[in-house]
Amino acid sequence: MPRRAAVLALTWPLLLDLSVTANAEDGTQQKLGMRIFNQSCRVCHTKPQIISPQYAPALSMNTLGGKTDLITEVISNGTPRMPGFKYQYKPDEIAAVAAYVKTIPVPATTATPAPGKSNASRDAD
Ligand code: HEC
Repeated sequence: MPRRAAVLALTWPLLLDLSVTANAEDGTQQKLGMRIFNQSCRVCHTKPQIISPQYAPALSMNTLGGKTDLITEVISNGTPRMPGFKYQYKPDEIAAVAAYVKTIPVPATTATPAPGKSNASRDAD
């Protein structure tokens, strides 16, 4: 999968730089999840500056219907435009980020749907 490899190549230097040694001992699961989120997810999932576009959809407790198993799935295996994290983080670390995502309040404005994701039907209820 050359495209995914390219994305990984892009994100690797960033991730290496941050020396991600998530040790669960010095905090709660939520703290661990927040730290991993800030290190590995924020770069795509939050808006860096007012004027710059956000690459990925905003995450919140409503993401994927708040279903932990689906959130965990996406984090582990990635999507066409997102690298999977299963080789980088242990299952309990992924679980911690998934749990953290579920604590993020729903943004006031509706997030722009990610382009090119055909199964992200906005009307599906
Ligand atoms: C390289 C940029 C990038 C990084 C880094 C990234 N994501 Fe994503 N993520 C995306 C994109 C883009 C999508 C939208 C799906 C698509 O277009 O492939 C997405 C989708 C998701 C979704 C599903 C959202 C939905 O509404 O369907 C979740 C959950 C998610 N990401 C969580 C995370 C978490 C947690 C991390 C950190 C461990 C992370 N992502 C890191 C780019 C990224």
